[in-house]
Amino acid sequence: MVKICCIGAGYVGGPTMAVIALKCPSVQVAVVDIAQKRIEAWNSDKLPIYEPGLDDVVKQCRGKNLFFSTEVEKHVGEADIVFVSVNTPTKTTGLGAGKAADLTYWESAARMIADVSKSSKIVVEKSTVPVKTAEAIEKILTHNSKGIKFQILSNPEFLAEGTAIQDLFNPDRVLIGGRETPEGQKAIKALKDVYAQWVPEDRILTTNLWSAELSKLAANAFLAQRISSVNAMSALCEATGANVIEVSYAVGKDTRIGPKFLNASVGFGGSCFQKDILNLVYICECNGLPEVAEYWKQVIKINDYQKNRFVNRVVASMFNTVAKKKIAILGFAFKKDTGDTRETPAIDVCKGLLGDKAELSIYDPQVTEDQIHKDLALSKFDWDHPLHLQPMSASSSTEKQVTVVGDAYEAAKDAHGLCIMTEWDEFKTLDYKKIFDNMQKPAFIFDGRNVVNVDQLREIGFIVFSIGKPLDAWLKDMPAVA
Ligand code: NAD
Ligand code: UDX
Repeated sequence: MVKICCIGAGYVGGPTMAVIALKCPSVQVAVVDIAQKRIEAWNSDKLPIYEPGLDDVVKQCRGKNLFFSTEVEKHVGEADIVFVSVNTPTKTTGLGAGKAADLTYWESAARMIADVSKSSKIVVEKSTVPVKTAEAIEKILTHNSKGIKFQILSNPEFLAEGTAIQDLFNPDRVLIGGRETPEGQKAIKALKDVYAQWVPEDRILTTNLWSAELSKLAANAFLAQRISSVNAMSALCEATGANVIEVSYAVGKDTRIGPKFLNASVGFGGSCFQKDILNLVYICECNGLPEVAEYWKQVIKINDYQKNRFVNRVVASMFNTVAKKKIAILGFAFKKDTGDTRETPAIDVCKGLLGDKAELSIYDPQVTEDQIHKDLALSKFDWDHPLHLQPMSASSSTEKQVTVVGDAYEAAKDAHGLCIMTEWDEFKTLDYKKIFDNMQKPAFIFDGRNVVNVDQLREIGFIVFSIGKPLDAWLKDMPAVA
């Protein structure tokens, strides 16, 4: 029986290993982590992450061929294939701070693998890492290995949160990079055999190590670039009276461009896009390619511009001040169908409004009150460090200005304005007449996700701003400077 161990029981390690266990009954899978609370949750009825379909997969395999454990060294020692799926955050201090990937967690995992291994192993980079990381990992393993042979593979993960299980069941592609030596090719085949149990062969791509590592950064950069492109257009739409929904539909009909990933929004969030593009920018700079670095940096700049623009629009429309005004925030997760708040645009928008002394009433169907307060207290880039290292209950200086409530109606009661930050389906079908009746007047809605029916809301009496859509007269009279 092949034994797999995955270091890191997070958003990637947990679902990916659960699906491998489900699809490969003859493989024994152990997912290990140093965060005890996370492992306890994986072993309970309330899993540590919300992901549609995940509960069912875990229930089918847990205790049979899927195990979650804090006995990191034991399971690593016993495994044939070790996946490493730990955090690779942006460095916050020192060389490359604010851009380069912090490989502290990766390096300590690699050193531990070398320490506890008594048999040869395939070590798989599952985390997103800078190109050439495999070379560094190889050096750490071989210099500490006591004669044991390791083969390093790069097998980046392309799942998106909220659709992780579907993405894993039916991936567009699985990418495996390895050394072009007979041993490297043998290792590639061993990993390919695992995926081939449910992924069609023509979707399993094999490359050299550096192509696999770089493809992951490139894919995320291309995806984020599409969003920044449509968001840049959304600003021009508002200025000209064009409608971004119509523009992106017309653009996406070109089969060379395609319709996906062209939804204008308040900005992209999530744990990957910003971090991975900053990392790409740093790698370009280190390789003497400042023009290429500058090109990709623009994707982040437009994203920051879009979030600032939104805050400025809210404040400018409401007579240039939101001080002591209640603003309802609907949605805090970085996208629907997840409870994940890492780099969610809601954090920047809330911080912007709090900076203007607003009082916020926040509702999200999946994000806890504790998490929201913690997010609003953390500084940039501090979020992506293992949970056990973070303060469990951060008390923020803004806590008095923020309340977290149990539904959208409570959030909106007596509010002057309502901001939609996440495209949760339930926000499409709210009773907006009831909401309007209970709000201060004039009542404003700022839709950062284009989920509401603007015409219907205007008929009710709201002043409505929806990203990239023609402005109503009120907003034209109150221009927001970005
Ligand atoms: P995460 O924070 O949810 O999980 C990482 C886990 O690793 C944490 O639970 C942490 O406690 C654990 N960990 C850290 N150091 C450890 C060590 N030395 N030993 C044991 N456990 C350790 O992160 P994630 O979202 O699962 O991302 C993991 C990697 O995958 C990152 O490199 C990320 O860029 C990449 N990735 C993420 C996604 C996504 O959608 N979240 C998608 C593709 C790739
Ligand atoms: C992303 C990549 O899609 C995935 O392949 C990679 O493995 C990890 O990073 P994720 O961050 O989970 O996945 O979600 P994604 O669906 O890509 O959305 C990222 C952000 O972009 C979200 O805030 C989302 O709301 C936003 N977005 C997405 C838009 O604003 N407009 C779009 O058209 C699509």
